[in-house]
Amino acid sequence: MRKKIVAGNWKMNTLPAEGIELINGIISKLEEVPSDVQLIIAPPFTHLALANEQIKDTPITLSAQNCADQAKGAYTGEVSAAMVKATGASYVILGHSERREYYGENSEILNRKMAQAFENGLKPIYCVGEKLEEREAEKHFEVVGGQIKEVLFNLTPEQMANVVVAYEPVWAIGTGKTATSDQAQEIHAFIRKTLSDKFGELAQEITILYGGSCKPSNAPELFAQEDIDGGLIGGAALKAEDFIGIAKSY
Ligand code: PGA
Repeated sequence: MRKKIVAGNWKMNTLPAEGIELINGIISKLEEVPSDVQLIIAPPFTHLALANEQIKDTPITLSAQNCADQAKGAYTGEVSAAMVKATGASYVILGHSERREYYGENSEILNRKMAQAFENGLKPIYCVGEKLEEREAEKHFEVVGGQIKEVLFNLTPEQMANVVVAYEPVWAIGTGKTATSDQAQEIHAFIRKTLSDKFGELAQEITILYGGSCKPSNAPELFAQEDIDGGLIGGAALKAEDFIGIAKSY
């Protein structure tokens, strides 16, 4: 049985007080969420410790949105995986398309970030996905396959067992355009097949999330697909009602 996860990526949104309000809103609706669905929230670095305090008696788990590719030292402005871990977070999102696109994160950097995450006991939520022009040129399998092979194929099976994969077509992120459930299922199955080439049966246990304009209205159809094990939610994770509405969609 694969773990079902609904994870909220808050991106660069909310001030601490707004974050607390959002968390309280989520907590007030927790009983609506099926008990086998794990909720993860990924607030900005600045309110991770505060958020951890707020969720401590709940089943909600905490994630950072990024971490540094170095352990410590003279890297002004960076936040290390050890610092993230010390806030109480247990996950870290790595390789989000916005990090790849705006901050030049490539597989080489992401391999180092992965290593930092594992050294500090953080579980990576590793994002992959093609851009619109790559989809139109029918290169999406090649692009996503490359993102998987260049990073996840370097892991040991023990490490891989602790990774959550998130497929997020860049053209669907924040655009209101969602991949159809068939398009999403097709590539999720491809990701699982690619992982099985390297890790065998373990691929069946890996949680693969869909992300990109996921909302309460389209989540049920997406989550009904065989290889879609939940969602990585951006915009809709900023409203407790929508976030919980998605989590109820299984
Ligand atoms: P979105 O973002 O739900 O706002 O499209 C998803 C993501 O980038 O993780």
